[in-house]
Amino acid sequence: MSNTIISILDKRFKLSIPNETILEKVRALANKINADYEGKNPVMICILNGAFMFAADLVKCLTFQPEILFAKFASYDGMESTGKVKELIGINTDLSGRDVIIVEDIVDTGLTMFNILPKFEALGTKSVRICTFLQKPEKLEVDLKVDYVAMNIPNDFIVGYGLDYNGMGRNYKDIYSVVDN
Ligand code: IMP
Repeated sequence: MSNTIISILDKRFKLSIPNETILEKVRALANKINADYEGKNPVMICILNGAFMFAADLVKCLTFQPEILFAKFASYDGMESTGKVKELIGINTDLSGRDVIIVEDIVDTGLTMFNILPKFEALGTKSVRICTFLQKPEKLEVDLKVDYVAMNIPNDFIVGYGLDYNGMGRNYKDIYSVVDN
């Protein structure tokens, strides 16, 4: 039985999505992806750090053979007035002509995915789809098509199942939402 309240740094979090529910949702999502990619050989790109647990559970449920890569966003202050620029690092594979599935932990404002998608398209990919474990629909700020979503959640800050609060909390198998803001 998991603790219902945990403390991380200065905040308390309460149990929100137990691991059994998480795994049910992952399996249901995998079924949809299996139907779409049967007989194909897409490249699945797990976005580090947050998506590592979701990607590990998801790929175990797939019935086709994906190539699995890991990549990370490097944020730095860009020259544009918009401030932070995110670049994808760690992709050393030729993606031209390939079907790509980006595996993310959570889509919040959607800005990260919105800015990254054209960069994949510029690599000559055949198709690029976004697969996220969680989405906070109320927070979406851009016109982004998210192809696969395991769960929609309210606009609360969460940790666990790969997601962190200041680098902590990724190891929990359940998802917790913040109590003290
Ligand atoms: P977006 O660009 O606003 O969609 O941001 C997506 C990224 O923000 C995710 O990949 C997470 O790293 C982070 N994020 C968004 N919401 C949460 C949360 O509730 N807990 C932990 N990280 C979050």
